[in-house]
Amino acid sequence: QDDQFKKVISHAKEYGYVFQSSEIYDGLSAVYDYAQNGAELKKNIRDYWWKAMVQMNENIVGIDAAIFMHPTTWKASGHVDAFNDPLIDNKDSKKRYRADVLIEDYCAKIEAKIEKEVKKAEKRFGDAFNKEEFVSTNGRVVGYQEKINSILSRMAKSLENEDLADVKALIEELEIADPLTGSKNWTDVKQFNLMFGTKLGASAESAMDLYLRPETAQGIFVNFLNVQKTSRLKIPFGIAQTGKAFRNEIVARQFIFRMREFEQMEMQFFIKPGTQKEWYDYWKEHRMKWHLSLGMGADNYRFHDHEKLAHYADAAADIEFKFPFGFKELEGIHSRTDFDLKAHEEHSGKKLQYFDHEDNASYTPYVLETSIGLDRMFLAVFSNSLQEEELENGTTRTVLKLPSVLAPVKAAILPLVKKDGLPEIAKQIVEELKWDFNVIYDEKDAVGRRYRRQDANGTPFCITVDHDSKEDGTVTIRHRDSMEQERVKIEDLRTIIKQEVDV
Ligand code: GAP
Repeated sequence: QDDQFKKVISHAKEYGYVFQSSEIYDGLSAVYDYAQNGAELKKNIRDYWWKAMVQMNENIVGIDAAIFMHPTTWKASGHVDAFNDPLIDNKDSKKRYRADVLIEDYCAKIEAKIEKEVKKAEKRFGDAFNKEEFVSTNGRVVGYQEKINSILSRMAKSLENEDLADVKALIEELEIADPLTGSKNWTDVKQFNLMFGTKLGASAESAMDLYLRPETAQGIFVNFLNVQKTSRLKIPFGIAQTGKAFRNEIVARQFIFRMREFEQMEMQFFIKPGTQKEWYDYWKEHRMKWHLSLGMGADNYRFHDHEKLAHYADAAADIEFKFPFGFKELEGIHSRTDFDLKAHEEHSGKKLQYFDHEDNASYTPYVLETSIGLDRMFLAVFSNSLQEEELENGTTRTVLKLPSVLAPVKAAILPLVKKDGLPEIAKQIVEELKWDFNVIYDEKDAVGRRYRRQDANGTPFCITVDHDSKEDGTVTIRHRDSMEQERVKIEDLRTIIKQEVDV
């Protein structure tokens, strides 16, 4: 697993997807830059989301609110008081950790033992193996699961009650050691606010303390009434937004999974109080369908219903994805009640109510939220697509099987040789296709090597111009995943590519 993850990170760098930020200065931890291919992939994921949420839903509109917001926003939203991580320092190594993550990692190790038992049994029983039955009846596995449940529920309770001494006690009882040094010499657990502060204004006296937004959602809440009035949308309706968010994450690891500067794609769906359960189920199902539409395998997703709820929610679930380091949160679906709008009414003194003509009454809407990290989605897509395949001739090829709709480059146009007028025909094809697709021209190296390069880059099609092309106006089109080649007319290329890469 570690090896696979290392390959993902180095492939992302080698093929111009993701670089460490400010690398020449040795980088900045948990901050990354998207390179020429990465920026395209990221944009395509964003567009795929926007299309599904905004374009395809008559009752959802998109906005683009500022990153800077009035500081009272964050008082109202609860972030000033409650957006904290419980931290613990190791006295010997002087390293700082998130206490909850140390405990979760401990549980992940127990979970790995369960997986091992399952694999062993699967081998032993073959086709007769029933996983569900096995995990619910096998004594050892049941014991492991009970241990995990009891640790996590105690941690959740202690965090909810702000009983940080008990969180420390739990770490000591489990004999959790510093992952780097093995030392078990811990300080007390302390809360640490995750928002980045900055200042607005020139002079020291008049400058205003601001925060970089830790979520995009609040830009939607404060604009709720403006959007509703100008769009004349009736409840139920949604407001969507994509944009940067900032969190001073302490555990800076796992590449672009947890970053200090990242991008969210969020949608707040405004509903009538009392209908939240129905909409919660609707959006859970609807968002899962969106993920499955990319064809990355249903086995790679699962729901995780929350027991411990954030300060604003009455129900919450994550869509988890199987990353190279295990199942982790990819998207959150939260039933946020009227918490945010009520809080903004209270702090701003302005009414944020909706007049329902059918009921002839005003109310503060309830909100159903879907929130996904764009960078995390990028990692899900990228890591799932990177594969090494054994070929019939005994060699292996590295192929990035990105869903075609998301691939940065849709087709590479390759003249078989650099002479006989073939480059001119290939360049003419580029000229024609570039109006509709991101395509590239490549004439370097033997054609086989060029195919491999495009496979590793995730390009769904290679179009090769050869001597016959001059005679009959046809080319070879090679499909990345099957490596099959067909002879097609140049004039049909646009339609063929469109069929595969359009949604
Ligand atoms: N408005 C609700 C909200 O922000 P969240 O669970 O804190 O909820 C939503 O974040 C999503 O944003 C997560 O599911 C994850 O995909 C992404 N996300 C959160 N923190 C992140 C980070 N530090 N780096 C990358 N993505 C992050």
